[in-house]
Amino acid sequence: MLNIESHVSLKPYNTFRIDAKARYWVEITCEEDIHTLLQLTDFVDTPKLILGGGSNVLLCRDFDGLVINVNIQGIEVIRADDDHTYITAGAGVNWHKLVMFCVEHGYAGMENLSLIPGTVGAAPMQNIGAYGVELEQVFDSLTAIHIQTGEKRTFSYADCAFGYRESIFKRELRDQYIITNVTFRLDKQPIFHTRYGAIRETLAEMGVSDDNLSIKAISEAVIHIRRSKLPDPAEIGNAGSFFKNPEVPKPQFERLKAKYPVLPGYPIGDDVVKIPAGWLIEQAGWKGYRTGDTGVHTKQALVLVNYDNATGNEIMTLARQIQQSVLETFGILISPEVNIV
Ligand code: FAD
Ligand code: EPU
Repeated sequence: MLNIESHVSLKPYNTFRIDAKARYWVEITCEEDIHTLLQLTDFVDTPKLILGGGSNVLLCRDFDGLVINVNIQGIEVIRADDDHTYITAGAGVNWHKLVMFCVEHGYAGMENLSLIPGTVGAAPMQNIGAYGVELEQVFDSLTAIHIQTGEKRTFSYADCAFGYRESIFKRELRDQYIITNVTFRLDKQPIFHTRYGAIRETLAEMGVSDDNLSIKAISEAVIHIRRSKLPDPAEIGNAGSFFKNPEVPKPQFERLKAKYPVLPGYPIGDDVVKIPAGWLIEQAGWKGYRTGDTGVHTKQALVLVNYDNATGNEIMTLARQIQQSVLETFGILISPEVNIV
């Protein structure tokens, strides 16, 4: 039975804690709910916004439509072969809960993605990533339902067109499908991803060496690093990195490096270098900046924050100022990672 509510404040449902209102709100807990919803003639032409944990959205207006909160639960081991275990999780499962399930059972591959907020269903949307691993490395397939036709479709790895903080769902198919569940392929024999300096240092502090390295230790190290750097949305409103790290052609990177010798950069293939946007924003003087209730986090310049009652538009104004200032200083246009609504 669907319970469609009216005039709902979205403040508890987005980690930026923006007090925008939804004209209508509905929670769906199974696929059948979606089909029931799509048959309601009153809502056929109503604009729809799909929402998981609200940890990667910035609400700049009241939403004059129907917010569909995806809360499909369930974690199931569906099959195994000599090398892999396949696990299907409902779109509403908390991402970190799934990671902990895998770590506890020794299913390897997701440990570097510990403590990322949000839901399983949103994870393929931007191919979530952290500490040298991206979702696509453990992705098998997903199931989604078309929001107009109700057609159910399975998307393979190739169908999703994953990139850095990108997928087909963030581009060509944006707002067209409700992802209902995702199947992951986990390794029986772990491959440890410890090339990030912060992970190696934290493991050393924990007394973990190559001899006693485990996916549990990596998960704990990642959790420790994240807690020390990133603001907890329960305390300060934020959506993680506001911008993506820009990827620039190598000659442009080299010209900048000649001017700013300490400029960090990570090669992506032979021709492109990824530059940490946090560095650019900090050098442009924004780290720790605050105006009213909006600001730039004191420990991580890539994270914009709502100290209390900022509006989405106030955060957007700050984001545009930062974008302009980085462009003027370095000639690089940084683009938002967060989904602007
Ligand atoms: P939401 O914010 O609810 O939605 C995000 C987008 O996905 C929206 O466009 C929405 O319409 C769409 N969507 C949501 N659910 C579905 C569904 N079932 N079907 C179809 N579309 C859907 N991200 C990283 O990649 N790496 C990080 O390290 C990281 N760290 C973070 C740290 C903090 C403190 C915070 C607040 C955020 C961080 N993020 C990070 C961003 C965020 O956690 C991820 O993008 C996460 O996947 C968002 O999940 P969500 O359920 O909250 O999505
Ligand atoms: N840096 C600064 N000043 C800052 C912040 C960063 O100079 O205030 C520079 C430093 O040189 C640092 C480098 O940026 O070494 C990288 O910083 P960090 O390791 O904190 O990572 P990031 O590039 O800022 C990315 C992801 C995060 C992810 C971490 C760890 C993006 C847009 N962000 O951040 O993802 O958790 O790496 O892998 O790719 C998110 O997407 O929301 C998110 C938090």
